[in-house]
Amino acid sequence: MTNPAAAALIARSNRLGADPKNTNYAGGNTSAKGVETDPVTGEPVELLWVKGSGGDLGTLTEPGLAVLRLDRMRSLVDVYPGIDREDEMVAAFDYCLHGKGGAAPSIDTAMHGLVDAAHVDHLHPDSGIAIATAADGEALTKEIFGDRVVWVPWRRPGFQLGLDIAEIKHRNPQAIGCILGGHGITAWGDTSEEAEAHSLMIIDTAADYIAENSRAEPFGPALEGYAALPLAERRARAAALAPTIRGIASADRPMVGHYTDSDEVLDFLAHAEHPRLAALGTSCPDHFLRTKVKPLVLDLPPTASVEESLARLHELTVAYREDYQAYYDRHATPDSPAIRGKDPLIVLVPGVGMFSFGKDKQTARVAGEFYVNAINVMRGAEGLSSYQPIDEAEKFRIEYWALEEAKLQRMPKPKPLATRVALVTGAASGIGRATAQKLAAEGACVVIADLSLEKAQEAAREIGGADVAVGVQVDVSDEAAVQAAVDAAVLAFGGVDLVVNNAGLSLSRSLMETTEQDWDLQHDVMAKGSFLVAKATAKVMIEQQLGGDIVYISSKNSIFAGPNNVAYGAAKADQAHQVRLLAAELGEHGIKVNGVNPDGVVQGSGIFASGWGANRAAVYGVEEEDLGKFYAQRTILKREVLPDHIANAVFVLCGPELTHTTGLHIPVDAGVAAAFLR
Ligand SMILES: NC(=O)c1ccc[n+]([C@@H]2O[C@H](COP(=O)([O-])OP(=O)(O)OC[C@H]3O[C@@H](n4cnc5c(N)ncnc54)[C@H](O)[C@@H]3O)[C@@H](O)[C@H]2O)c1
Ligand SMILES: [Zn+2]
Repeated sequence: MTNPAAAALIARSNRLGADPKNTNYAGGNTSAKGVETDPVTGEPVELLWVKGSGGDLGTLTEPGLAVLRLDRMRSLVDVYPGIDREDEMVAAFDYCLHGKGGAAPSIDTAMHGLVDAAHVDHLHPDSGIAIATAADGEALTKEIFGDRVVWVPWRRPGFQLGLDIAEIKHRNPQAIGCILGGHGITAWGDTSEEAEAHSLMIIDTAADYIAENSRAEPFGPALEGYAALPLAERRARAAALAPTIRGIASADRPMVGHYTDSDEVLDFLAHAEHPRLAALGTSCPDHFLRTKVKPLVLDLPPTASVEESLARLHELTVAYREDYQAYYDRHATPDSPAIRGKDPLIVLVPGVGMFSFGKDKQTARVAGEFYVNAINVMRGAEGLSSYQPIDEAEKFRIEYWALEEAKLQRMPKPKPLATRVALVTGAASGIGRATAQKLAAEGACVVIADLSLEKAQEAAREIGGADVAVGVQVDVSDEAAVQAAVDAAVLAFGGVDLVVNNAGLSLSRSLMETTEQDWDLQHDVMAKGSFLVAKATAKVMIEQQLGGDIVYISSKNSIFAGPNNVAYGAAKADQAHQVRLLAAELGEHGIKVNGVNPDGVVQGSGIFASGWGANRAAVYGVEEEDLGKFYAQRTILKREVLPDHIANAVFVLCGPELTHTTGLHIPVDAGVAAAFLR
């Protein structure tokens, strides 16, 4: 049974974490102290429950708490070897755990354990960090809060900061919390309600004070020509720039992108002080670990052309990378971890918005959210005073902290398709749907494109939330619709790397029965449709300079000739030759083009369900429901081919093993000698 103190802690954490004004995503931590019976001695034992490393307050549950014995944790004070060796205390926490200890204790555990209060909150509210990063933050703290809230000069999170705050609480019995210079806030209370009220009092009082006392234009006067483009134009511009920007952000390692054009971002970029402020970088450790010390800012207004903007972005990238290397060289010591890449994680484009990057979509999105937090912080600090983040050497100490490096080393190995963005056409049904599911399961972000938006979105939901899969509407035979779908994909995940030309339909008719419309429809969807999709997506891939894959779901019928199939078979043969033609043409950009030739995939197939199956069954003289088994008996392996088998072949073609194969077709037909490739 959950201890009442821990239950109150979880409820409070969820309430605090639910409101973004209180803390950034996964930022901050909370704790409670209470008594439980020690199962070994039967005696009461004082425990500390504290949010473990990495979790989010809004969704915190009991397994997310670390549980320590308070007496042992506090005994660490006696063996603490001093600030130079404070990191050793983190390993020592393992010797203070109660039972199995729950989640891994974070670096902030010391602060929670050492402060003499039953409930403690450490949060990263934008309003609190605004005061914490104001040049005269100490004086402001006094003015806003009197002696109720105490200023603590910047210190890197750790054992010493815990000792400092415990001492402050001890010396200031009237205080309810403190502002941590450059960083955030900590508040405490004798009960969970009291701690929560104190946290909210600090957050809201700081916000109100900023609202009432801020100067009119904290980011300076509006910059001529830097106003946001109108929505449609802005999105189109973002889609045009995104692939190049993703390429820039992925020079050292491939990244997934997130785009936002929120009012905060556009307003920041439309005002005169944004270049100076952006160059100062973020301050709260959580912020800059996810956003890098500073963003790359395009120094052109949106009135510049796409070509001018791209050319300038390439120049700025060279400077950004040199600057980051110089930052590393200035601060690295012989035992610092190796440089982790010089690419920006945040790219700001005036009038257009912000592109943020990460190893997956969630990380990319959260990086963007953190930069919006940083913008709010800068607005507050500049409104009252001037923004003064912690200095660069301190940022480096945190970014390349041995404990941070250890955290990164503990990360699970990424899945084979991690960071890759896949666009699968016709993915609301059958083979396409199975392929999208497989690619997502192997780590890709997936865009499901199909005729019906509703069905595309439903298939995406089946895979997961918007960080994993999105559905978009497309008629692949319509060039403008294809471009719109590719733009949507690019805005959802930053670009496209892996395209599956799967959309199709089949009408089994003899030459005499095949109408001009039958011919045109099948050629429009399959031959022309895959040409249009290949053209629009190859442009993105070429701009990204990250290589890529295009896979055609062709057919046994691209090789095999039989009656009643002239339009479908010819369209499939067209697709099959596109594979070879494009493999020859796109290889110089590192883009592989391959095909899969399925046959007899009855299960889940809309093609079979809508007449083709009945027709085939009639042709072969079997019941329609036995068609799958009938096809199986025709094969060399006597096995039924399922959508998953096609999906597996697509994965193999795009996965980490077949890196040197292009222009290939893989039959997935359980063996049909008449369709052997030669
Ligand atoms: N099922 C088989 O045995 C088999 C065999 C060989 C090849 N194929 C090929 O595999 C692909 C998928 O077939 P399936 O059996 O999964 O069929 P399916 O009908 O289940 O799925 C095809 C999807 O394509 C979509 N689509 C059709 N026209 C479109 C358009 N103009 N724009 C966008 N989307 C469109 C449909 O809405 C549908 O969701 C097709 O290209 C088909 O020719 C299938
Ligand atoms: Zn913190």
